[in-house]
Amino acid sequence: MSKAIETKGLTKVFRSGFLMKETLALSDLTISVESGTVFGFLGPNGAGKTTTLKILTGLIHPSAGEGFIFGKPVDDLSVKKKIGFLPERPYFYEYLSGRELLHFCGELFGMPRKKREEKIEELIDLVQMKGKEDTQLRHYSKGMLQRIGLAQALFNDPDLVFMDEPMSGLDPIGRKEVRDIILHLKKCGKTVFFSTHILSDAEVICDQVAILMNGKLRNTGKLETLLSPKLKSIDICLKSVSKEKIPSLQSLCASLSVVDDAVLVSVDDEGRLSKVIDWSRKESAAIVSILPRKESLEDIFMEEYQGEGG
Ligand SMILES: Nc1ncnc2c1ncn2[C@@H]1O[C@H](COP(=O)(O)OP(=O)(O)O)[C@@H](O)[C@H]1O
Ligand SMILES: [Mg+2]
Repeated sequence: MSKAIETKGLTKVFRSGFLMKETLALSDLTISVESGTVFGFLGPNGAGKTTTLKILTGLIHPSAGEGFIFGKPVDDLSVKKKIGFLPERPYFYEYLSGRELLHFCGELFGMPRKKREEKIEELIDLVQMKGKEDTQLRHYSKGMLQRIGLAQALFNDPDLVFMDEPMSGLDPIGRKEVRDIILHLKKCGKTVFFSTHILSDAEVICDQVAILMNGKLRNTGKLETLLSPKLKSIDICLKSVSKEKIPSLQSLCASLSVVDDAVLVSVDDEGRLSKVIDWSRKESAAIVSILPRKESLEDIFMEEYQGEGG
């Protein structure tokens, strides 16, 4: 599979203020993103996500290291034609309507009017803005602005789409809509690279993730390999457990709680699970459910965060 993005030791030092105080925003970032995949770039605020996206889209230069898009250096002009970018806080002229904004965008790409109109219709459909395209942007909600921003990022039919926190500030329905658009883009063979601090959104749609903390890469890989092998616990729900038997059950489990007429227990591995099942048979308790809990992206993120002293 070809690489959509490759970075080698990307580093960015910002100097700001009268004393030119240095901030190491990004340190030695080496990642690679395969074409046609959805890549989640995760990290808390200030981790260096926006800095990375700005370097990859050629808006700022790295202090050290290199970035490549489809094998070409990020500042190569031919790269610009192949990428689209939805910034974190897109700034649009708010007296324009959604349709006018997209026309403006098409003009920048030098697209003739007829073709532009067709493309605009197609994009308005894709981002589900039909019926709202002639309203001025100042009357748009955050979710609508995000969707029209996405439409402009997709205008040149890019092979690689960058999105900086595309789900932030959206309600659950808006987040799902953005997720669906990302999955649609993947279906069309495109590569999507997006940053987020909303882990659950990344978990559902990403093929691969990278976790960034304080400008440093903490972990990267396919979600299956990052997540799959670790079983966190197995939760079992029992009923018809007599009160006096609870201590003997408790000695078999990592945790136990009583909720109404149910007893919820948690064990660490399959061996312990068999013991609880044997116990339930012996004591005539009813097993209502057995739920293995795998490690989630949230768990990995928290582990890494604690490792950083967070
Ligand atoms: N233009 C800038 N000048 C100085 N420091 C900056 C600048 N841009 C970002 N930073 C700093 O770099 C770090 C990473 O920022 P950023 O890439 O925006 O993080 P994220 O997008 O993950 O929240 C932060 O400490 C931030 O304050
Ligand atoms: Mg940011």
